[in-house]
Amino acid sequence: MPPDFAALRKQFPTLEHWAHFDIARKAPLPLCVEASMQSYMKDVYERAGETAFSMEETDRTRETVARLVGVPAKTLAFIKNTSEGLNIAALGLGLGSVDKVLITEFEHAACVFPWRRLQTKGVEVDVVRARNGGLPVDAFMEQMDDRTRAVAVSWVAYGNGFRTDVPALAKVCRERNIVLVVDAIQAVGVLATPIAELGADVVIAGGHKGLLSHIGAGFMYCREEIIPKLEPPYAARFSFAVDDKWQEPLTLASDAHRFEYGNPNFLGIWVLKHSAEFIMSIGLPQIEQRIRELTTYLYDRAEDMGLESCTPRPWEQRAGIISFEVPDPGTVVKKLHERKFITNVKDNRYLRTATHFYNTEEEIDRLLDATMEILRGK
Ligand SMILES: Cc1ncc(COP(=O)(O)O)c(C=O)c1O
Repeated sequence: MPPDFAALRKQFPTLEHWAHFDIARKAPLPLCVEASMQSYMKDVYERAGETAFSMEETDRTRETVARLVGVPAKTLAFIKNTSEGLNIAALGLGLGSVDKVLITEFEHAACVFPWRRLQTKGVEVDVVRARNGGLPVDAFMEQMDDRTRAVAVSWVAYGNGFRTDVPALAKVCRERNIVLVVDAIQAVGVLATPIAELGADVVIAGGHKGLLSHIGAGFMYCREEIIPKLEPPYAARFSFAVDDKWQEPLTLASDAHRFEYGNPNFLGIWVLKHSAEFIMSIGLPQIEQRIRELTTYLYDRAEDMGLESCTPRPWEQRAGIISFEVPDPGTVVKKLHERKFITNVKDNRYLRTATHFYNTEEEIDRLLDATMEILRGK
């Protein structure tokens, strides 16, 4: 039986007030998040934090999140946010003046600054430019040479919503011994492909978008063979193979623990566990299917109304984001907000909609009617 998406809307109190098309910024949190925050405090009050506020619980959450995203638990580290994971990758590769990195023009600032910072060490950072609104694997290949050590790219771009063909790019990178680092925050919780099947080396996502969780806790997956090749920029007690702080020689953990260091965000990780369980109770493939239906409806309805999207149409080249290049998108977003629609403006260029399973066709109709009215100056 397909999930009862209409009934699931009741899990999101925000939806009583807003037609919410902005999960690409932050999720309208479900009730399980509130309940888990309360249960965390109950654990602290009644059990002195034995459960939620503990390292053992963090390892249990690792198992849960690993199951949701489709990776072995030992390849998963908890991080604060996407930027932290990207910094761990950028600094951990030990790149220097002979090395080259490819990023793309679609990257969020979080996936530009950590790499550009390496320019001070003499690393060359080349930008792959879009072709027809997308980033074909050929465009990467043309810019690769024997100095290229890493490629960093979003699975789904934050602006126009383009979905990179990560499995194809991963194959090309693997053949050339290039490390592929993927910013997956706009894809996790939306696309059901198990992350280990992508073939990428490092995949990173914060928890506050498609994972329906709170800010401050996310994950970094690192392919097992790559873990020993990444030198963590920070290392402390949780990064090492044993607890003995005087051990000789000092040996970093062989699993993804090596990217963790001190006490983590226990509350954020506890919440993440409950959000992951909530998503699994609905089913990630079912969620992807519903987002596909809704966004296809949005795409087609908009086109019927004369509103051309700059997001590629085929599902394989996009996910939940559909963007429009309209005049003065900031004002359109503001006016939509006055009418109780949450959308977003990106780069003063895109009016961005980000649909999730809790949206409805009726909301999409209203959103498009309101957008057209605003664009016609009404
Ligand atoms: C593609 C992408 N990467 C990263 C981020 C955010 O990274 P951080 O939470 O580290 O600021 C966003 C949006 O917030 C994003 O859209």
